[in-house]
Amino acid sequence: MIDNQWVLTAAHCIIKPYTLADYMVNLGAYQLAVPSGVLAAVSAIYVHPIYQGDGTSGDIALIRLQSPVPYTDYIMNICLPAQDVQFPSGLSCYVTGWGSIKQGVSLPAPQTLQMVQLPIIDQAQCNSMYHINNPSLPASQTLIQWDMICAGFPNGQKDACQGDSGGPLACKWNGSWLLAGLVSWGFGCAIANRPGVYTRVSAYSDWIQQHVAVQATPADISIQNVPNNSTGASSCLTYLLFLLTVFIHIILW
Ligand code: ARG
Repeated sequence: MIDNQWVLTAAHCIIKPYTLADYMVNLGAYQLAVPSGVLAAVSAIYVHPIYQGDGTSGDIALIRLQSPVPYTDYIMNICLPAQDVQFPSGLSCYVTGWGSIKQGVSLPAPQTLQMVQLPIIDQAQCNSMYHINNPSLPASQTLIQWDMICAGFPNGQKDACQGDSGGPLACKWNGSWLLAGLVSWGFGCAIANRPGVYTRVSAYSDWIQQHVAVQATPADISIQNVPNNSTGASSCLTYLLFLLTVFIHIILW
Protein backbone atom coordinates (compact mmCIF):
# COMPACT_ATOMS: atom_id res chain seq x y z
CA MET A 1 0.00 0.00 0.00
CA ILE A 2 1.59 3.28 -1.06
CA ASP A 3 -1.27 5.65 -0.27
CA ASN A 4 -4.62 5.16 1.47
CA GLN A 5 -6.22 4.44 -1.89
CA TRP A 6 -3.42 2.84 -3.93
CA VAL A 7 -1.74 -0.55 -3.84
CA LEU A 8 1.21 -1.77 -5.91
CA THR A 9 1.53 -5.28 -7.26
CA ALA A 10 3.31 -7.09 -10.08
CA ALA A 11 1.94 -6.81 -13.64
CA HIS A 12 2.01 -10.62 -13.95
CA CYS A 13 -0.51 -10.84 -11.10
CA ILE A 14 -3.12 -9.16 -13.30
CA ILE A 15 -4.45 -11.78 -15.67
CA LYS A 16 -5.84 -10.26 -18.87
CA PRO A 17 -8.61 -9.90 -19.84
CA TYR A 18 -9.97 -8.92 -16.44
CA THR A 19 -12.90 -7.06 -15.01
CA LEU A 20 -12.41 -4.88 -11.94
CA ALA A 21 -15.11 -6.83 -10.10
CA ASP A 22 -12.81 -9.90 -10.24
CA TYR A 23 -10.41 -8.15 -7.87
CA MET A 24 -10.55 -7.21 -4.22
CA VAL A 25 -7.66 -6.21 -2.00
CA ASN A 26 -7.37 -7.70 1.47
CA LEU A 27 -5.55 -5.21 3.70
CA GLY A 28 -4.20 -6.04 7.13
CA ALA A 29 -4.60 -9.81 6.68
CA TYR A 30 -2.42 -12.14 8.76
CA GLN A 31 -3.67 -15.74 8.50
CA LEU A 32 -5.56 -16.32 5.26
CA ALA A 33 -7.62 -19.17 6.77
CA VAL A 34 -8.86 -16.79 9.48
CA PRO A 35 -10.55 -13.90 7.68
CA SER A 36 -9.18 -10.67 9.05
CA GLY A 37 -8.36 -7.20 7.87
CA VAL A 38 -10.37 -5.18 5.41
CA LEU A 39 -11.62 -6.13 1.96
CA ALA A 40 -11.47 -3.23 -0.46
CA ALA A 41 -13.08 -3.08 -3.90
CA VAL A 42 -10.98 -1.93 -6.86
CA SER A 43 -11.88 1.06 -9.05
CA ALA A 44 -8.95 0.95 -11.51
CA ILE A 45 -5.93 -1.14 -12.44
CA TYR A 46 -2.95 0.26 -14.39
CA VAL A 47 -0.61 -2.41 -15.71
CA HIS A 48 2.67 -0.89 -16.86
CA PRO A 49 2.45 -0.61 -20.67
CA ILE A 50 5.97 -1.97 -21.33
CA TYR A 51 5.30 -5.30 -19.61
CA GLN A 52 5.48 -8.13 -22.17
CA GLY A 53 5.29 -11.26 -20.05
CA ASP A 54 7.50 -13.38 -17.75
CA GLY A 55 11.00 -12.06 -17.20
CA THR A 56 10.45 -8.78 -19.09
CA SER A 57 10.72 -5.21 -17.80
CA GLY A 58 7.74 -3.38 -16.38
CA ASP A 59 6.44 -6.07 -14.03
CA ILE A 60 4.48 -3.55 -12.00
CA ALA A 61 0.81 -2.59 -11.69
CA LEU A 62 -1.07 0.03 -9.71
CA ILE A 63 -4.42 -0.73 -8.14
CA ARG A 64 -6.73 2.10 -7.12
CA LEU A 65 -9.20 1.24 -4.38
CA GLN A 66 -12.80 2.42 -4.62
CA SER A 67 -12.46 4.38 -1.41
CA PRO A 68 -9.60 5.36 0.88
CA VAL A 69 -8.85 2.81 3.61
CA PRO A 70 -8.14 4.09 7.13
CA TYR A 71 -4.68 3.31 8.46
CA THR A 72 -4.38 0.97 11.46
CA ASP A 73 -1.48 -0.80 13.21
CA TYR A 74 -1.67 -3.40 10.41
CA ILE A 75 -2.69 -1.26 7.44
CA MET A 76 -0.06 1.32 6.67
CA ASN A 77 1.61 2.69 3.59
CA ILE A 78 5.28 2.14 2.76
CA CYS A 79 7.54 4.87 1.38
CA LEU A 80 8.43 4.82 -2.29
CA PRO A 81 12.15 5.21 -3.01
CA ALA A 82 13.08 8.23 -5.11
CA GLN A 83 14.35 7.53 -8.63
CA ASP A 84 18.00 8.01 -7.59
CA VAL A 85 17.99 5.68 -4.57
CA GLN A 86 20.55 2.91 -5.12
CA PHE A 87 20.13 0.17 -2.55
CA PRO A 88 23.66 -1.00 -1.72
CA SER A 89 24.53 -4.65 -2.12
CA GLY A 90 24.41 -6.43 1.23
CA LEU A 91 21.68 -4.16 2.59
CA SER A 92 19.39 -6.31 4.69
CA CYS A 93 15.75 -6.29 3.52
CA TYR A 94 12.57 -8.24 4.22
CA VAL A 95 10.14 -10.06 1.92
CA THR A 96 6.71 -11.11 3.13
CA GLY A 97 4.02 -13.27 1.59
CA TRP A 98 1.69 -16.25 1.66
CA GLY A 99 3.44 -18.05 -1.19
CA SER A 100 4.91 -21.57 -1.27
CA ILE A 101 7.29 -22.57 1.56
CA LYS A 102 9.39 -24.43 -0.99
CA GLN A 103 8.92 -25.17 -4.63
CA GLY A 104 5.64 -27.03 -5.13
CA VAL A 105 4.68 -26.89 -1.43
CA SER A 106 2.00 -24.36 -0.65
CA LEU A 107 1.78 -22.63 2.72
CA PRO A 108 -0.20 -24.92 5.06
CA ALA A 109 -3.31 -23.81 7.00
CA PRO A 110 -3.91 -21.48 8.75
CA GLN A 111 -1.65 -19.79 6.17
CA THR A 112 0.21 -17.41 8.43
CA LEU A 113 2.02 -14.54 6.73
CA GLN A 114 5.70 -15.45 6.29
CA MET A 115 8.72 -13.19 6.31
CA VAL A 116 12.36 -13.67 5.35
CA GLN A 117 15.37 -11.40 5.73
CA LEU A 118 17.53 -11.20 2.60
CA PRO A 119 20.50 -9.09 1.49
CA ILE A 120 20.41 -7.07 -1.73
CA ILE A 121 22.64 -8.49 -4.47
CA ASP A 122 24.41 -6.18 -6.90
CA GLN A 123 22.69 -6.14 -10.30
CA ALA A 124 25.76 -7.17 -12.37
CA GLN A 125 26.64 -9.87 -9.85
CA CYS A 126 23.10 -11.22 -9.94
CA ASN A 127 23.25 -11.33 -13.75
CA SER A 128 26.55 -13.26 -13.58
CA MET A 129 25.08 -15.68 -11.05
CA TYR A 130 22.28 -16.55 -13.48
CA HIS A 131 24.96 -17.48 -16.04
CA ILE A 132 26.61 -20.02 -13.71
CA ASN A 133 25.72 -23.62 -14.74
CA ASN A 134 23.50 -22.26 -17.49
CA PRO A 135 25.14 -23.33 -20.80
CA SER A 136 22.03 -22.54 -22.86
CA LEU A 137 22.21 -18.86 -21.83
CA PRO A 138 24.58 -16.82 -24.06
CA ALA A 139 27.21 -15.04 -21.94
CA SER A 140 26.24 -11.70 -23.51
CA GLN A 141 22.56 -12.01 -22.68
CA THR A 142 21.37 -9.79 -19.83
CA LEU A 143 18.65 -11.39 -17.75
CA ILE A 144 18.62 -8.82 -14.98
CA GLN A 145 17.26 -5.70 -16.63
CA TRP A 146 17.65 -2.05 -15.55
CA ASP A 147 14.36 -2.18 -13.66
CA MET A 148 15.13 -5.34 -11.67
CA ILE A 149 16.81 -5.79 -8.29
CA CYS A 150 17.94 -9.10 -6.74
CA ALA A 151 18.00 -10.30 -3.16
CA GLY A 152 19.19 -13.56 -1.64
CA PHE A 153 22.29 -15.63 -0.96
CA PRO A 154 24.82 -17.17 -3.40
CA ASN A 155 24.01 -20.63 -2.05
CA GLY A 156 20.24 -20.10 -2.12
CA GLN A 157 18.62 -21.29 1.10
CA LYS A 158 16.19 -18.40 1.56
CA ASP A 159 13.94 -16.85 -1.06
CA ALA A 160 10.47 -15.80 -2.06
CA CYS A 161 8.55 -18.43 -4.02
CA GLN A 162 5.41 -18.98 -6.14
CA GLY A 163 2.46 -17.07 -4.72
CA ASP A 164 4.60 -14.33 -3.18
CA SER A 165 4.51 -12.28 -6.37
CA GLY A 166 3.61 -8.65 -6.16
CA GLY A 167 4.53 -8.62 -2.48
CA PRO A 168 6.97 -6.16 -0.94
CA LEU A 169 10.75 -6.26 -0.60
CA ALA A 170 11.09 -3.69 2.17
CA CYS A 171 14.40 -2.15 3.25
CA LYS A 172 15.18 0.21 6.10
CA TRP A 173 17.21 3.00 4.58
CA ASN A 174 18.19 6.24 6.32
CA GLY A 175 15.64 5.54 9.03
CA SER A 176 12.60 4.86 6.81
CA TRP A 177 11.13 1.68 5.40
CA LEU A 178 11.28 1.88 1.63
CA LEU A 179 9.67 -0.35 -0.96
CA ALA A 180 12.79 -1.51 -2.84
CA GLY A 181 11.10 -4.22 -4.88
CA LEU A 182 8.07 -6.28 -5.81
CA VAL A 183 8.39 -10.08 -5.94
CA SER A 184 8.63 -10.78 -9.68
CA TRP A 185 10.49 -13.92 -10.79
CA GLY A 186 13.18 -16.46 -10.07
CA PHE A 187 14.35 -19.89 -11.18
CA GLY A 188 12.83 -22.38 -8.76
CA CYS A 189 13.07 -21.13 -5.20
CA ALA A 190 16.11 -20.75 -2.94
CA ILE A 191 18.43 -22.46 -5.47
CA ALA A 192 22.16 -21.63 -5.45
CA ASN A 193 23.09 -18.86 -7.92
CA ARG A 194 19.43 -18.22 -8.76
CA PRO A 195 18.42 -15.37 -6.43
CA GLY A 196 14.94 -13.91 -6.35
CA VAL A 197 14.40 -11.09 -8.83
CA TYR A 198 12.23 -8.12 -7.90
CA THR A 199 10.81 -5.19 -9.84
CA ARG A 200 12.98 -2.21 -8.93
CA VAL A 201 10.33 0.20 -7.65
CA SER A 202 12.63 3.26 -7.76
CA ALA A 203 12.68 2.89 -11.57
CA TYR A 204 8.94 3.60 -11.57
CA SER A 205 8.65 6.42 -9.07
CA ASP A 206 7.66 8.93 -11.81
CA TRP A 207 5.14 6.56 -13.38
CA ILE A 208 3.60 5.90 -9.96
CA GLN A 209 3.51 9.58 -9.00
CA GLN A 210 1.86 10.49 -12.31
CA HIS A 211 -1.04 8.09 -11.79
CA VAL A 212 -1.49 8.78 -8.11
CA ALA A 213 -1.22 12.56 -8.42
CA VAL A 214 -3.55 12.95 -11.42
CA GLN A 215 -6.36 11.22 -9.63
CA ALA A 216 -5.81 12.62 -6.18
CA THR A 217 -8.60 14.67 -4.63
CA PRO A 218 -7.56 18.16 -3.40
CA ALA A 219 -7.53 16.86 0.18
CA ASP A 220 -5.01 14.18 -0.80
CA ILE A 221 -2.66 16.60 -2.51
CA SER A 222 -1.51 18.36 0.65
CA ILE A 223 -0.73 14.94 2.12
CA GLN A 224 1.26 13.93 -0.94
CA ASN A 225 3.41 17.02 -0.79
CA VAL A 226 4.82 15.78 2.48
CA PRO A 227 7.80 13.66 1.34
CA ASN A 228 6.65 10.20 0.35
CA ASN A 229 4.87 8.06 2.81
CA SER A 230 3.93 4.61 2.44
CA THR A 231 3.97 -0.53 4.24
CA GLY A 232 3.23 -3.12 1.97
CA ALA A 233 0.19 -5.23 1.85
CA SER A 234 0.12 -6.10 -1.81
CA SER A 235 -0.93 -9.42 -3.09
CA CYS A 236 -1.52 -11.89 -5.76
CA LEU A 237 -3.10 -15.21 -6.52
CA THR A 238 -3.11 -16.16 -2.84
CA TYR A 239 -5.42 -13.25 -2.09
CA LEU A 240 -7.69 -14.10 -4.97
CA LEU A 241 -7.89 -17.72 -3.87
CA PHE A 242 -8.57 -16.57 -0.34
CA LEU A 243 -11.37 -14.31 -1.54
CA LEU A 244 -12.88 -17.07 -3.63
CA THR A 245 -12.89 -19.31 -0.56
CA VAL A 246 -14.64 -16.61 1.46
CA PHE A 247 -17.29 -16.14 -1.21
CA ILE A 248 -17.84 -19.88 -1.57
CA HIS A 249 -18.29 -20.09 2.19
CA ILE A 250 -20.82 -17.30 2.11
CA ILE A 251 -22.73 -18.94 -0.74
CA LEU A 252 -22.75 -22.34 1.00
CA TRP A 253 -24.00 -20.80 4.20
N1 ARG B 1 6.42 -15.41 -10.21
C1 ARG B 1 6.18 -15.94 -8.91
C2 ARG B 1 4.74 -15.64 -8.48
O1 ARG B 1 3.94 -15.35 -9.33
C3 ARG B 1 7.19 -15.44 -7.92
C4 ARG B 1 8.46 -16.14 -8.10
C5 ARG B 1 9.51 -15.65 -7.20
N2 ARG B 1 10.53 -16.64 -7.23
C6 ARG B 1 11.66 -16.60 -6.53
N3 ARG B 1 12.45 -17.60 -6.60
N4 ARG B 1 11.95 -15.55 -5.80
O2 ARG B 1 4.36 -15.80 -7.35
